[in-house]
Amino acid sequence: MLDELYSLRGKVALITGASRGIGRAVALAFAEAGADLAVSSRNRRPPELEETAEQVRALGRKALAVPAHVGRKADVADLVQKSLAAFGRIDILVNNAGGNPVLSTLAELEEEAFDKVMEVNLKGAFLVSKAVAAVMIGQGGGRIINVSSVSGLRARNDRTGAYCISKAALNMMTQVMARELAGHHILVNAIAPGSIRTEFSRVNWSDPERCARRVQEIELKRFGEPAEVAGIALFLASAAGSFVTGEIIRVDGGEMI
Ligand SMILES: NC(=O)c1ccc[n+]([C@@H]2O[C@H](COP(=O)([O-])OP(=O)(O)OC[C@H]3O[C@@H](n4cnc5c(N)ncnc54)[C@H](OP(=O)(O)O)[C@@H]3O)[C@@H](O)[C@H]2O)c1
Repeated sequence: MLDELYSLRGKVALITGASRGIGRAVALAFAEAGADLAVSSRNRRPPELEETAEQVRALGRKALAVPAHVGRKADVADLVQKSLAAFGRIDILVNNAGGNPVLSTLAELEEEAFDKVMEVNLKGAFLVSKAVAAVMIGQGGGRIINVSSVSGLRARNDRTGAYCISKAALNMMTQVMARELAGHHILVNAIAPGSIRTEFSRVNWSDPERCARRVQEIELKRFGEPAEVAGIALFLASAAGSFVTGEIIRVDGGEMI
């Protein structure tokens, strides 16, 4: 019973931003649960992306690594086409690629930097969801999981304003798509991580003073690990999450209580 609830046997998942951090942890959890995987990132730091694919194969599952920038339509089309050519279907999409290249107040933020943040965190998830939703509609259903952030739930005053806006919009996109796609048996949810120990958040945990300050804001008094986000993604991807759609699940150690 437990095994069946969380099994992804026979399923195919496409995960963006899978070369490291949360995306890689989700890929490995899905592989352990039995899914075959298309994993993608821009491949900015070879061999990270291929290493994720190798780790999936070591778990006995199939893996295809496809370099793609999620904000570029041609890359997204290529990613979806190659995933379908390899596996014939896509049951689960995890829009995890994201980041925040610039720290600035909104009043001082350059237009180009604003566009860049929106391009990856919001437009990227839109483009990949649009392409994969068409596939899922043809298949009769699927799951879309957006990796958002608690920064989309409460305004921060730490020069990450554009990032906050992009994740708030991603939360709304999750809920609009959940309503629009429910009739096609496609469930759309988001995960809102808090402070998770990855490359992205290195600035917050590598400096002891900054780390101590950040940890004070978290009820569990520690950073989370990528694997602690992966378990929630597995719940949303599996039979266990079959009546959950339009939800935004915080994984933040109580930071937003
Ligand atoms: N860590 C946290 O505390 C935290 C908290 C809240 C939310 N999040 C969210 O969690 C997600 C994963 O972040 P992480 O912490 O695991 O960061 P990470 O370790 O830096 O990983 C980011 C991933 O996204 C890929 N990526 C970046 N820009 C891309 C683009 N334009 N197209 C395709 N792939 C791209 C990166 O690979 P390449 O460089 O090869 O493209 C990498 O695989 C992000 O959406 C982030 O906003 C993280």
